[in-house]
Parts: sequence; structure tokens; C-alpha cells
Amino acid sequence: MTKILFICLGNICRSPMAEFVMKDLVEKAGLADEFQIDSAATCRDEIGNPVYPPARRKLAEHGISCEGHAARQLTAQDYEEYDLLISMEGANLKNMQRICGGDPAGKMHRLLDYTDRPGDVADPWYTGDFEATWRDVSEGCKCLLAEIEKSGI
Ligand code: 4NP
Repeated sequence: MTKILFICLGNICRSPMAEFVMKDLVEKAGLADEFQIDSAATCRDEIGNPVYPPARRKLAEHGISCEGHAARQLTAQDYEEYDLLISMEGANLKNMQRICGGDPAGKMHRLLDYTDRPGDVADPWYTGDFEATWRDVSEGCKCLLAEIEKSGI
């Protein structure tokens, strides 16, 4: 069982997109039983909120539902529970380390660092460009799954 927690600032756009894309990928690969996948926020602002409608529509364009999501904040307990804590951008990592008391087990990584174009996932909050976020998230999740299958994390 591999347990993956995706993390962004608010847990209403980027990290839930990654959560539901990754769930879709493992489902289609027949590996759903081998994964536990969730997402969380570093800030408290959006707690309890569903996926932001434009992000929900982008997922729906690709046949992916995010029904039932409610934003929640990362906890230090998550650090014990999950094998991988995957951030959407560098700024998240700092806040994740503050909440979790560091990263002694080396579980924290940026999603696009699994691709051949390391960097931050496009933030749609101010640009409204959810297509760019979709491209980053779907490529990152495919590369992350390939890495897990290769290395057997
Ligand atoms: P997310 O998007 O971190 O991808 O869920 C954002 C959500 C809320 C805000 C910024 C980004 N905000 O400033 O409230």
C-alpha cells in the first residue's frame, strides 16, 4: 500500500485536481487497492469547501468526478500516516515543514520534480488558466505513478 497526500495552499484547486487525477490513473491501471490518496491545504482559509467550480469543470471535461471533496488542513499526524507528501509548489514545502515539524523521513517532494521539467504547478487562482494546471497536474501524476511502479515506494 502506497499512501500519497497532495498538498497546496487552499486545497480547492491544485491539490484536489492532483488527488482525483491520481485516483483515476490508479483505477485505470487496476491498482486502486494498492493506494490511499488524499489531499490537504497548508492554510485554513478554505476548510470545508468543495473543489473550486472551474477546477471541477476541468476535471469533468476529462470524465473525472471530485464529488464529496471538502478542503482540510494538513496535520502533523498526516506525516506519520502518509508515505509521500507531494506539494504543488516550493512555497508549500516550507509551510508543510512548519506544520509537520520538518521532514526527517524525506517524504516531501514537489509534483513536477518527477517530470523532466521540474518546477511549480501553474497556479490558476489569479490567472484563471485551469488548462495549464490540468497539463501540469496530469503530467506530474503520470510521472509520479511511473516512479512508484519503478522504485516500488
Ligand atoms: P489552491 O488554490 O491552493 O490550488 O487550492 C488557491 C485557493 C485559495 C487561494 C489561493 C489559491 N486564496 O488565496 O484564497
